[in-house]
Amino acid sequence: MSFKNECAIITGASRGIGRATALGLAAKGSYISIFDINEQGARQTASLIEDNFGQKVFVKKVDISKQEQVNQAVRETEEKFGNIHLLVNNAAIVNTTPFSEISLDEWQKVLDINLTGAFYCIKAVLPYMIKERKGKIVNVASIAAKVGGGLFGNVSYAVSKAGLVCLTKGVAKEMASYGINVNAIAPSATDTEMIKDFTGPKREAFIQSLPMGRVASPEEMASAIIFLLSDEASYITGEIMDVNGGLYMD
Ligand SMILES: NC(=O)c1ccc[n+]([C@@H]2O[C@H](COP(=O)([O-])OP(=O)(O)OC[C@H]3O[C@@H](n4cnc5c(N)ncnc54)[C@H](O)[C@@H]3O)[C@@H](O)[C@H]2O)c1
Repeated sequence: MSFKNECAIITGASRGIGRATALGLAAKGSYISIFDINEQGARQTASLIEDNFGQKVFVKKVDISKQEQVNQAVRETEEKFGNIHLLVNNAAIVNTTPFSEISLDEWQKVLDINLTGAFYCIKAVLPYMIKERKGKIVNVASIAAKVGGGLFGNVSYAVSKAGLVCLTKGVAKEMASYGINVNAIAPSATDTEMIKDFTGPKREAFIQSLPMGRVASPEEMASAIIFLLSDEASYITGEIMDVNGGLYMD
């Protein structure tokens, strides 16, 4: 599996699954462009890549819920690397406010970042991919999309991820004839900052209920993402790949 001379935009790669994906792709030769609201963390990821793989990285402070910021960062990425063949829509926030208490502003913020942010990124990269008739997009959804949330994320989080699932399938259909594959992964609990508050007996009970008896590592999510970005996945599109250790099967 090689990504030599390919450029991958990864949103939310200042830490967690995004950082693991950036490191994994850079190890296989890809140029990396990181869009993240946390510029300091993104620069740390870039340093790790440069120190370990000597690979070129572009870091841009971007709030993905702001379309002009996304468009500008995509333009700058293309200017720097000359192509955009790969996009990972990974950045997201979790929200734990119960549905009965959530305000419209809070609801809207989750959808703006988790769903519309991915919409902006896809819209911005597609012209480059269509021109070259080459592209792979992976959206990071969640098991929450299939079960309605409830574990960490509430309804707003689950709805945003269910939207991402439909966005994946719809764009996959429309783009298949242009040589562009669009897929998603649906992770369950993964050991990152996002679930740092999920502790104590509730976490223990949850882990006991997992067929594999443990949560996932960010690298295990990155492996699935990198496979879907690779030529090995050339005939896969519109797929929502469960990466959940057997927790939920459909
Ligand atoms: N960790 C889990 O258990 C789990 C489970 C299922 C799905 N997921 C999904 O995996 C993806 C990565 O999650 P993670 O666990 O690594 O989370 P994380 O919280 O560690 O990382 C999220 C990243 O997104 C960035 N980000 C947040 N808001 C942003 C914005 N408006 N603009 C740009 N960047 C922004 C953050 O700075 C951070 O780098 C997310 O889509 C998440 O919903 C995670």
